[in-house]
Amino acid sequence: METNTNSGTNTDTIWIRAGRVLDPATGLDGVRDLWIRDGKIEKICMPEEWREGQEKGQGENPDGAETGCRVIDARGCYVMPGLIDLHVHLRDPGQEYKEDIETGGRAAARGGFTTICCMANTSPAADSPETIAYIREKAARVSPVQVIPVGAVTKGLAGEELTDMAALKAEGIGAVSEDGKSVMDAALCRRGMELAAELNLVTLAHCEHKGMQAGGVMNDGEVSRRLGLPGFCNGAEDIIAARDILLAEETGARLHLCHCSTAGSVELLRAAKKIGLPVTGEACPHHFTLTDEAVDGTDANFKMAPPLRAAADVEAIKRGLADGTLDCISTDHAPHAEFEKAKGMREAPCGIVGLETAVALTVSELVRPGVITPMQMAEKMSFNPARILGIDRGTLCEGAQADVTVIDPEEEYTIDKESFASKGRNTPFHGRRVHGRVKVTIVAGTPVFEA
Ligand code: DOR
Ligand code: ZN
Repeated sequence: METNTNSGTNTDTIWIRAGRVLDPATGLDGVRDLWIRDGKIEKICMPEEWREGQEKGQGENPDGAETGCRVIDARGCYVMPGLIDLHVHLRDPGQEYKEDIETGGRAAARGGFTTICCMANTSPAADSPETIAYIREKAARVSPVQVIPVGAVTKGLAGEELTDMAALKAEGIGAVSEDGKSVMDAALCRRGMELAAELNLVTLAHCEHKGMQAGGVMNDGEVSRRLGLPGFCNGAEDIIAARDILLAEETGARLHLCHCSTAGSVELLRAAKKIGLPVTGEACPHHFTLTDEAVDGTDANFKMAPPLRAAADVEAIKRGLADGTLDCISTDHAPHAEFEKAKGMREAPCGIVGLETAVALTVSELVRPGVITPMQMAEKMSFNPARILGIDRGTLCEGAQADVTVIDPEEEYTIDKESFASKGRNTPFHGRRVHGRVKVTIVAGTPVFEA
């Protein structure tokens, strides 16, 4: 896989040669050339065309020298619509020592993402039009990828009073969420969903019952008992997933279950879909890659909410991804500073970074072992998140904005946290051997990352 720039006349044109083009919108899965011009997908054609044309003396030059365009040799690579992450913590405003919109945006580009949604648990929370405007304006200036702010459901994420969601929407939020917690007052949660439904905003639900979570720092089970650490039971997730599904049915709201980690929440989502409710769900790479057996009791890079669960839960997540119950793979990218994670399992904050490891873990754990197909990967990391947000992305259709991700599924390497563009180094995957390297990320026709 090589890229070269020819300093010709036609620098706005990119020719992605002979990759495996995967477009869930049309069902196309085949080796094609993809042409980008003026920020848009211009055409997708059989790679034979230039060869045949050459023989007839009328094809474009395969190295681009004659056309002056940029050529990306994508042989052996997946060419997907730009990846979209519904679940990112950018920490900006207020906690820029952990991450900021620029470093988070660069981490996204490096991870193959062209659009990311940033969660509302900043400082101040993303609960006012001013804060939403700040995020949007800063992102437009410094982020190489598109950033869609998520608005808070309640003011200050305090669970007491709803935000002015209409005003937040006018400033550009793409969804609402209380992520980091649930709105524990069911009546208020219901009113929030009603309001979101009126505004046609999806509610992204972090399902965690505060009382049942009960100070747990890892999954409740044999491992937590062996380590003597307080556990966090599956029921704390399942009870809120069930409640929120019921509230979605009552209010007609579109509900999306964030970071499903339990067999129970997958089963609830399956049942909700079966009766036709507009409920969707996501899983994170750490929840299909690791179990609580990975927790050693000291390293807080294995601490996140929801926690790493039991093997049966991991199997249920994989089944849910395979059969379409789980619509998306999102990262829950949650950067924290080294000194914070050094506080140990009991005291350290929850969360791990994920933007720069998601593609490799998805390829290594799901695609290569045949749990999901490459097309399903494109659905779950691009097409479905776009549909859930209701945005005009996630496709390689001719005329669409040219957001494109090129991935080499065969390339093997070792994850190195020191290479991250993110300020966060809090990953449990440092040193892990993986397959699947993001080679090029293109936003609106401009390469924003190249390996
Ligand atoms: O592990 C987590 N970290 N889970 C969350 O829901 C919030 C996130 C954070 O903001 O650090
Ligand atoms: Zn969350």
